[in-house]
Amino acid sequence: MVYIDKLSDFVDQTVELKGWVYNTRSSKKLIFLVIRDGTGLCQCIVSKDEVDDEVWNKAEELTQESSVSISGRVVADERSVGGHELHVSDVKPIQIAESYPITPKEHGVEFLMENRHLWLRSRRQWAIMRVRNRIIYSLHEFFQQQGFIQMDAPIFTGNAAEGTTTLFSTEYFDETAYLTQSGQLYGEAMAMAHGKIYTFGPTFRAEKSKTRRHLTEFWMIEPEMAFYDLDMNMELAESMLSHLVDQVLKDCSEELEILERNTEPLKNVKAPFPRLTYTEAIELLNSDKTKKMLDEMESSREAELQDLKNEKEELQKEYGQAKKGRKVQIDARIREISMRTEEVEEDLRNIPHWRDKALNIKWGEDFGGSDETILTLHFDSPIMVYGYPAEVKAFYMKRDPEDDRVALGVDVLAPEGYGEIVGGGQREDDLDILKKRIKEHNLPEDAFKWYTDLRRFGSVPHSGFGLGLERAVCWICGIQHVRESIPFPRMLGRLYP
Ligand code: 4AD
Ligand code: MG
Repeated sequence: MVYIDKLSDFVDQTVELKGWVYNTRSSKKLIFLVIRDGTGLCQCIVSKDEVDDEVWNKAEELTQESSVSISGRVVADERSVGGHELHVSDVKPIQIAESYPITPKEHGVEFLMENRHLWLRSRRQWAIMRVRNRIIYSLHEFFQQQGFIQMDAPIFTGNAAEGTTTLFSTEYFDETAYLTQSGQLYGEAMAMAHGKIYTFGPTFRAEKSKTRRHLTEFWMIEPEMAFYDLDMNMELAESMLSHLVDQVLKDCSEELEILERNTEPLKNVKAPFPRLTYTEAIELLNSDKTKKMLDEMESSREAELQDLKNEKEELQKEYGQAKKGRKVQIDARIREISMRTEEVEEDLRNIPHWRDKALNIKWGEDFGGSDETILTLHFDSPIMVYGYPAEVKAFYMKRDPEDDRVALGVDVLAPEGYGEIVGGGQREDDLDILKKRIKEHNLPEDAFKWYTDLRRFGSVPHSGFGLGLERAVCWICGIQHVRESIPFPRMLGRLYP
C-alpha cells in the first residue's frame, strides 16, 4: 500500500491505494473516482476499454465515502489534484457507503455541526486540522529547543485559577472538584522545580458566552518561567508566535491554499511586535483615528452591499436564457453572494455599536471583543497590550511598583480583527500581598495553601502566559469561528457528537 502524498516516488509503477471515495463521476466509457486516504486526494480513472467487466462493475457500485482498495499505474499530471493520477487496473470495494449526508451542495452550519464526525472528512476541515497539528508541533519544537520542560497540570482541581464565575464542578467522591481553567498555578510550582516549564492541556470555562471566540473546552499552552519579568515574558511570547507562523508558512502551503488564506498578513508576523500600554490602547480607541477607520469601514461595506445586490440582479436576469452549465455556475455564485451579503449586513448592524463602545470606553473598563478587533485593525502585525487595570485581571497578577492600579499583565492581540490569543503576565511573588489578594477575591484560603507556600520557600520574580490553541488556529487559518478549529467543539449548547 502507498500513501497519496508519496505518489511522486512511484511514477509509472503500479501501486495500491487504500482510502475512501471523495467524489465520483462517470460517462459511458470512463469512471473518475477521486480517492482520499488522509494524506491527500488522487483522481483514479477507470477505463471500460482497459479493465474487465467485473472491475468496471465494482467501480460503478462505489458511492461517495465507500471504502476501497484500488490499484493502478501512477501517472504524473500537473493539472490533476495532487499532481498525479492513477490509471486503474483493479478495484476492491471494502464497504459500500450508505447515501452520504454531506454532499457537495451547501449545508447549513447546524447540520454540519450535528455531523461533525463526518464533516471532519471534508477538504476544508482536513486542511484546518493539519494546520492545527503543525501549530502544536511547532510549539513543542520551540519550547523544547529553548530548554523548557513539559509538565502536565491536573485537570481535576480543588481551586479556581481564573476566578470563580466560570468553573465547571463535578463530584469527586465526597468532595467537589473543578475542571481546570488553566494549568498556570501548578505551572508556577513546576517552574520552581525546573526553572522553565510549559504545560499543554485541555482547559475549561463555564462562561455562558455564545461568541465565535468562546469554547467551553479548549487547549492551552502555558509556559512559566522563574526569574522572568514582564519584558522577558513579552519577548518570549513574540518569538514563540513568530516561530509558529514561520513553520506553518513553510510546511502548510497546500492547506493554506485550500483555505484560501491570504498569506501576506502572516508574512508580517515578525518579532518585535508593537507594544502599547492599556492606557495608550484606551486613547487609541477613543481617538478620531478610530472614528475615521470605522466610518470608512461603514461606507466601504455599504458600497459592497450595493455591488453584491447589483451583481445578483444581473445574474438573475441572465438565468432564464442560460445554458445548463452556466446555470450551475450562476447558482454557485448566488450562494456565495448570499453568504457574503449576510456577513456584510451583520457588520453594518454592528459597526455603530462598535464605534459607540470604542469612542466611549473609559480607563478601568475591560476591552470587549469589538474593542480588540478595532485595536488590531490599526496595525498589520500582532500587538501586545500591557499594564491593565488590576481590577479586570486575576488575583495572581503582580502590580506595577510605580502605579498600584495597574497589573503587570499582557495580552497579545492577533491582527485582522482576531483579537486576544495570548494572556499572561508577571505573578505576585510576595507572600503577604498574595494572601491579601486571595482574601480580596473571596477565594478559599485553604485551597490555595500550596500556592502560597511557593512564596514561603524561595520565592522569585516569575512570569508566564497562555496561548489559546483554537484562537491561534482560527487566526492562522483565517477562519471565522472557533467551532471549526478543534475536532469536536464543546460550546454553550453543544455536546454532540
Ligand atoms: O487570558 P486567559 O484567561 O489567561 C489564563 O488562563 C492564564 N492563566 C494564562 C497564563 O498566564 N498561564 O486565557 C489565555 C488564553 C486567551 O488569550 C485565549 O486565547 C484562550 O486562552 N481562551 C479561550 N479560548 C477559547 N475559548 C475560551 N472560552 C477561552 N478563554 C480563554
Ligand atoms: Mg485573557
